Amino acid sequence: MSSDISSLLKKWNGELLIQHYDKESASWILIAIHSTIMGPATGGTRLMHYKHAQAAVNDVMKLSAGMTLKFAAMNFPRGGGKAVIMPTRFLSSEKRKKLMKNYGLLLQQLNGLFYTGPDVGTSSADMDIIGEIAPKYVFSRSQQHGGAGSSSIPTAIGVYHAIKKTSLFIWDTQQLNNKRILVQGIGGVGKALLPLLLSDGAKVYIADTNNDVLLKAIQKYPVTAVNSENVNSFDCDIFSPCALGGTLSPKTISQMKCKAVVGAANNQLSSQAALYSFQKKSILYAPDFVVNSGGAVAITGVEAMGWNENEVKIALDNIGNTVFNVFNIARQNNITSEQAARELAKTNLETFKK
Ligand code: NAI
Ligand code: PHE
Repeated sequence: MSSDISSLLKKWNGELLIQHYDKESASWILIAIHSTIMGPATGGTRLMHYKHAQAAVNDVMKLSAGMTLKFAAMNFPRGGGKAVIMPTRFLSSEKRKKLMKNYGLLLQQLNGLFYTGPDVGTSSADMDIIGEIAPKYVFSRSQQHGGAGSSSIPTAIGVYHAIKKTSLFIWDTQQLNNKRILVQGIGGVGKALLPLLLSDGAKVYIADTNNDVLLKAIQKYPVTAVNSENVNSFDCDIFSPCALGGTLSPKTISQMKCKAVVGAANNQLSSQAALYSFQKKSILYAPDFVVNSGGAVAITGVEAMGWNENEVKIALDNIGNTVFNVFNIARQNNITSEQAARELAKTNLETFKK
């Protein structure tokens, strides 16, 4: 193992990192088991090109820690884990299918050490293929294949509740009437969020680096496109980052004109310093791991715990309430909302251990 990777491992507070090379597709498969305190490690599988293996290892470690926080903050009995698949060459559709099957074999061998679902770069269609080999260890398969379907929809519903409760905290109303909301990233989650915001009367702006995605959204909904480059300085009430993480830095926050940031992207903060930039600008930040917990919690609730529609609804509503609660704890204790959410997760983890 390279010295870069072993130094990352030394700093990481997770339980286990599994590194596997799939020869047939020339892809690295990394699985990070961050914590099994609250239950079996569960998290999405991200398929992405990375500049180097160290970046992939860093990502999987951070993402798995985010899953632990997510489940713990919502007091949901699963542990945190994540998988990253890093192809080193172009993947033909045949090779990709074989890769998913080989990944299924690996999950089967792990025998319940890690349960997965979709994430950036994978979808329910991939989960269907993995599920042919490892049906017990995969969530979010399509309904035709016995799963609960895409996790993007419950994720978007959770983000919507979080936005409404953020509005309540700032403006004393959950009504989004005429609130200007910018959604960055119109993928699975962003796309599902648009009709929810519009149905509440919000003025919705969208940004995506993929023009086709923007065009389709504009044709379907009364939304306005914003150039991706101007997202940070765009004048709006709420900014909802639903693309990739790591975008909220002291530099980007210094340009922001919004009152709150509430979005789905995992690991939005480039570093903890971003939190102080939010405080300086009086921008309310809703911790990502609470806001985006809807997909993982609802899908796992349905598939592993047999939840009915009403139980899903209660869990998704609870995301808004938790965000509101976190804002209140932060205000009362003069700490950041991120610190308040981490404290909540820590308390739930400790209570669970007893
Ligand atoms: P996706 O891959 O379907 O969509 C991401 C979209 O963001 C794409 O349309 C892409 O073109 C766009 N994008 C990428 N970079 C961009 C940039 N710099 N500026 C503007 N647009 C950009 O992903 P999905 O599933 O919608 O997830 C979005 C985020 O939410 C990810 O960070 C993911 O980890 C997180 N998340 C997703 C959950 C789910 O259930 N899908 C659950 C929890 C978190
Ligand atoms: N991508 C989801 C997340 O980051 C992971 C997930 C989806 C886990 C569905 C389980 C079931 O929260």
